[in-house]
Amino acid sequence: MSILVTGGLGYIGSHTVVELLNNNFEVVIVDDLSNSEKFILDNIEEITGKRPIFYPFDLKRKELLEQVFDAHHVEGCINFAAYKAVGESMVKPLDYYENNLFSLINVLQEFKKRNISNFIFSSSCTVYGQADEMPIDENTPLKEAESSYGKTKQMGEDILKDFSKAYHKKVCLLRYFNPIGAHPTALLGELPSGIPNNLVPYVTQTAAGIREKLSIWGDDYPTEDGTAIRDYIYVVDLAKAHVAALQKLINTENETALDIYNLGTGTGSSVLEVVKAFEVANDVNVPYQICPRREGDITIAYANADKAERELNWKSETPLEEALKTTWEWQKYLRSRDL
Ligand code: NAD
Ligand code: WQD
Repeated sequence: MSILVTGGLGYIGSHTVVELLNNNFEVVIVDDLSNSEKFILDNIEEITGKRPIFYPFDLKRKELLEQVFDAHHVEGCINFAAYKAVGESMVKPLDYYENNLFSLINVLQEFKKRNISNFIFSSSCTVYGQADEMPIDENTPLKEAESSYGKTKQMGEDILKDFSKAYHKKVCLLRYFNPIGAHPTALLGELPSGIPNNLVPYVTQTAAGIREKLSIWGDDYPTEDGTAIRDYIYVVDLAKAHVAALQKLINTENETALDIYNLGTGTGSSVLEVVKAFEVANDVNVPYQICPRREGDITIAYANADKAERELNWKSETPLEEALKTTWEWQKYLRSRDL
C-alpha cells in the first residue's frame, strides 16, 4: 500500500518513513527541502535497504501535487510538512498560515477528488496552551494558541474535522508533546537551522562547544526546582505510533472515523532535570545560566497517553537518558560530516 508522506525528509517524518518501510508500506515523499537535506534520503535507504520515492517540491504547487497522485496509487497520507518555529511564526504569520494551511488543503483536495481516505495530521500539545490540570488528556479543553504557529495547528485540526464529516474520510489527529532524540544508527536526527530554539538541540550544541552556554528560561516557576516542565518523547517511539495509527485507520470500517491521540510519555521533566540527564547520559558538561522567563512559555505540560495505549496498543518505551544518548551520537555524526 502506498502512503504519501509530506515533509518525509524532516525530523519526525524521516523516522516515520523508516518505520513505514520496515512495516512494508510503500512510501512516496514530497518535501521541498525548506527545512531538511537530501542526504537524509540516502540514510533512510542505508537503514532500511529501501529507497522511497521522492519528489522535491513545495506542496503549495497544486499542479505538481496532482501529477504525484496521477503517478501513484496513494491510499493514505501522513502530513508532516509545515513550518514549525514558534517565534518566527509571530514575525512572519502570513508565511505560516500560507504554508501550513494551503499545503494541507491542497493534499485534502486531491483526497476528495480521488476518493482517498486515511489521513494523519501532525498536531501538537501547543493546542492545549497552559491546561488547568495535569496530565493532559484528549478531552482537556483547547485554549486559544498564543502563536501563529499554534493557530495553524488548531485550524488544521478544524479543517480536518470538517473534511472527515463532509466527505466521509478517516482522519487521525496526533498531538505530539516534545519530541527528542535521534535514530539509534545516528543516521537521522533533528537538523536545527541556525540557533536552536528547542531545549535539547540547544543543550546538545552547548555540550559540543558550538554554543557557549545554555540559557535556562526562568527558575521561578511554581515547580519543584523552579524550571518549567515538559513531556519529552523519543522520536522513534513517536514514529512507531504513526504506523499504529495508520493501521487502525485502514482497518476501521467507520468511514467518518475521527481519532485524536496524545503522544507523550506521561511523565514531566524539568529543564534542569533534562540538563542533568544529558550530562549523566553522555558524560559531558553543559554550562548554563539562569535567565528571565521566555515570553509565551507555559509552566507545565505532560500527557495522559492512556488512550493511545488502549486503542493503538502503543506506548512510549524509551527512557529520557537513552533518548539523550542518541542525540549526542547524532551530533557526533553531524560533526564527522562537517554539517
Ligand atoms: P521538520 O521541519 O523537521 O519537518 C518538516 C518537513 O516539511 C521539512 O523537511 C520541510 O522541508 C518540509 N516542508 C515544510 N513545508 C513544506 C511545503 N510547503 N512543501 C513541502 N515540504 C515542506 O519538522 P518536524 O519536527 O519533523 O515536524 C513535523 C511536523 O510535526 C510538523 O507539522 C510540526 O509542526 C509537527 N510538530 C513538531 C513538533 C516538534 O517539536 N518537532 C512538535 C509537535 C508537532
Ligand atoms: C522546552 C523547555 C523552555 C530552550 C515547543 C513548541 C511546541 C512544540 C514543541 C511544535 C521550556 C526551556 C528551551 C532554551 C530553555 N512544537 N528552554 N532554554 O516550548 O515546550 O514547545 O516545541 O508543535 O509547540 O512551542 O519546547 O524545547 O522550546 O522548550 O530553558 O534554550 O525548555 O523555556 O520550558 P516548548 P522547547
